[in-house]
Amino acid sequence: MSGERTVAYPAGDTLVSEGVIAPARAGRPAPARAGAAGEPLVVVEGLRVQFTRGGRKVNAVNGLSYRLEPGTMMAIIGESGSGKSVSSRALMGLLPPTAKISGSIRFDGRELIGLPEKDMRELRGGDIAMVFQDPARSLNPTMKIGAQITEAVRLHSDLDKRGAHARAVELLKLVRLPAAERRFHEYPHQLSGGMRQRVMIAIALAGEPRLLIADEATTALDVTTQAQIMELLVELQQRLGMAVIMISHDLGLAASYAQHVVVMYAGRAVEQAPTQTLFANVRMPYTHALLGAIPALDREPHSLFDVTPGQPPDLSALPKGCPFRPRCQYATDTCLQAPPLTEHEPEHLWACWHPVGAGAGHNSANGEQR
Ligand SMILES: Nc1ncnc2c1ncn2[C@@H]1O[C@H](COP(=O)(O)OP(=O)(O)O)[C@@H](O)[C@H]1O
Ligand code: SF4
Ligand SMILES: [Mg+2]
Repeated sequence: MSGERTVAYPAGDTLVSEGVIAPARAGRPAPARAGAAGEPLVVVEGLRVQFTRGGRKVNAVNGLSYRLEPGTMMAIIGESGSGKSVSSRALMGLLPPTAKISGSIRFDGRELIGLPEKDMRELRGGDIAMVFQDPARSLNPTMKIGAQITEAVRLHSDLDKRGAHARAVELLKLVRLPAAERRFHEYPHQLSGGMRQRVMIAIALAGEPRLLIADEATTALDVTTQAQIMELLVELQQRLGMAVIMISHDLGLAASYAQHVVVMYAGRAVEQAPTQTLFANVRMPYTHALLGAIPALDREPHSLFDVTPGQPPDLSALPKGCPFRPRCQYATDTCLQAPPLTEHEPEHLWACWHPVGAGAGHNSANGEQR
């Protein structure tokens, strides 16, 4: 990692009881750490990832494109199996060698596809870090958490043992781990799920990342802890000027925290917009179905709801044209051609021949065709 960036981590001196800070109350945002001149921090174009399983080709990502501005939080949402994790792992260079990857992923103007593993390793955990759903499995159960964070700090800095120890405690305070000094000497099993996730975030921050990818990072947590962790991520994004990609199957969660939303279906982006624009005027029928499926209060938290009748497509035998066609009530023969993801309105992109919402020629409530 280059030593040129100067990101001062604020000490955790503004601890509010258990760290619940409403985004609106979070500190003044740090200036976003800019990407290469004139380009967003991340530009994904036509990304494809194909696996071979049992002799069949599985098209896990099928021409995904999106852009992420520095210092912003973007949500990638979609049902299970839509290629959210695989596409993010491609960004981290974490796919198995059997994966066939094509297209382009530029980070700060640098092409990552085909980057030698040595360079990728330097980026990983440094400029780009990732937090996963299951912190219990990501942490070493036989090592005290303080030692694990100190190790991460030493990997990404020239600090000596003492300095790294101090920085590790500072990071634990930054992620608002209660009683950080005492917890430093505890093992992962002594912490709650929410605390373990805070520790994972602290480890991810050790390399002062410019991009943090949180893959279903709050899915395993109860609703209250989920909100606390999301608020922590928003606060860190603002204070550190860091970009965040939050991956979730939960459109409601994305709506509450992210500034931009990318909706994925069958390995591609089908709608993308700033969050408020998207929710003011959903255009893609799949997003519309997801919106109708936002869990109601009387549903089990995180329950996998029925989005719309039918199943996501078999990724080894995708339908011709629009991948949503077999489940879409608005489908016509035109949809046998794949609709391109196009910026139809300022900053609002969608891939659909017959969009719903304002200005649609059909009534989205009853599916009447034009
Ligand atoms: N290593 C792999 N080998 C074969 N298929 C895989 C592999 N990893 C993921 N897949 C397949 O890729 C598709 C997309 O998976 P994933 O990105 O994990 O979905 P999501 O994160 O949206 O739930 C799924 O059908 C999954 O089974
Ligand atoms: S392109 Fe056609 S099938 Fe696809 S979402 Fe739009 S209306 Fe439905
Ligand atoms: Mg996933």
